[in-house]
Amino acid sequence: MANIKYYTEDNIPLEMHKVRIIQKLHLLPIEERLESLKGAGFNTFLLKNRDIFLDMLTDSGVNAMSDRQQAAMLMADDSYAGSETFYRLDRKLTEIFKTKFFLPVHQGRAAENIINRSFIKPGNTVLMNYHFTTSKSHVTVNGGRVEELISDAGIQEESDLLFKGNMDIEKLTEAVNRLGAENIPYVRMEAGTNLIGGQPISVQNMRDVVAVCKKHKIISLLDASLLADNLHFIKTREDEFKNKSILEITQAIAELFDLIYFSARKLGYGRGGGIITNNQNLYDQMKELVPLYEGFMTYGGMSVREMEALTVGLDETMDEDMINQGPQFIAFMAEELLKRNIPIVTPPGGLGCHLNAMKFLDHIPRAEYRAGALASSLYLASGVRGMERGTVSEDRNADGTDHLADMELLRLALPRRVFTMSQVKYAVDRIAWLYDNRHMVGGLRFVEEPKVLRFFLGRLEAVSDWPVKLLEKFKTDFGDSL
Ligand code: F0G
Repeated sequence: MANIKYYTEDNIPLEMHKVRIIQKLHLLPIEERLESLKGAGFNTFLLKNRDIFLDMLTDSGVNAMSDRQQAAMLMADDSYAGSETFYRLDRKLTEIFKTKFFLPVHQGRAAENIINRSFIKPGNTVLMNYHFTTSKSHVTVNGGRVEELISDAGIQEESDLLFKGNMDIEKLTEAVNRLGAENIPYVRMEAGTNLIGGQPISVQNMRDVVAVCKKHKIISLLDASLLADNLHFIKTREDEFKNKSILEITQAIAELFDLIYFSARKLGYGRGGGIITNNQNLYDQMKELVPLYEGFMTYGGMSVREMEALTVGLDETMDEDMINQGPQFIAFMAEELLKRNIPIVTPPGGLGCHLNAMKFLDHIPRAEYRAGALASSLYLASGVRGMERGTVSEDRNADGTDHLADMELLRLALPRRVFTMSQVKYAVDRIAWLYDNRHMVGGLRFVEEPKVLRFFLGRLEAVSDWPVKLLEKFKTDFGDSL
């Protein structure tokens, strides 16, 4: 990490890059924001980008690329089979992870499709530190179920634990003994737990989990989609790795697991994905599904241009100056919110800053979707789009009741290298206004509800006219300001 101390300022995050391509943004007047919100069924996924000021929905496929990535895209070798671009990416993965086999796929959930089709039998249970939406759905559509073995402290919103994503080893041993190893197709560790605030896992915890897997001959699987932030946290929070390079830490992790998969919409700042392994037997069990679902073995649904960008992006991920921008900006935003007593997940993790809607909107009944209401009201107040990560993101139980999420979060993703500090400050300012007016925000109810992954396409409405009242308060406080 660049060692730069300030003379008059507190230590603020300092980017080790400059911006050379920009995109103009628009902030609609609040009356138009209300219309867009209604048009989108109070679901921020259904908003149109042209109606959004700061898009903090996700970092998926929207991190800023480097000049070297853009340049590499012009030198792609376009061919259906045997593209040199593929072999460059293949060699880069071997260089970084020291793995021999690579299955290319078009994005992370495609890897999940292939892994679950290959290894799950009906009635199986997959053990995870925590689920991700698509990773759970792919288990269940193949007849399996998921058990989460996060430590109890991991799902407490406020904490000072440094590795809140860690799996509880006692719970793991208990689950293996209770279920029987033969009924557990794999144990999945998500490096940087998405749904509970981008919280990292330590290398020591990965070692402990893999030791249990080895003892019981269960496949160990790493979801490395959010690995970049996790690498930064290992280097800065886990003593053993303080003086190790990011590449050395990556290799210490990679050698542990039987299988690794990733969304390259996140890892490597491109668009695509992959499964890597050193185990030929596992590779052989999965490989036929690539041409069936993704494309030929030398592109797997990715464009050659994206593969070139990914090759460079993976290389740049090994540079601490490149990967610390995200976590540092997130920590800055978190501190600004904490100064204003706004409830967030602590310690700040990777991916984004996570508002704690459970507390922020504690007057709204859980059945009326606190995190969904927070996502809608923040868009209305600011043009900032976040993502609901709470009960709306959980599908219903088999008996039709809502599956109440452990946490009700509004995730404000900070795609890497995209937003400036003043834009972050604007978001904080509007969140502070919303917090002071939080009692005006009401709940939501579904009007159209898909059975699987309902948060993507579901439509909701406000349970009362609270959005209009909030708009009126905004006009009173801000006059003709956008
Ligand atoms: N695993 C994790 C940890 C993820 O965060 C994601 C995607 C996936 C797997 C699936 O990858 O989108 O390429 O198919 N997360 C995105 C997000 C969608 O917004 O957090 P994908």
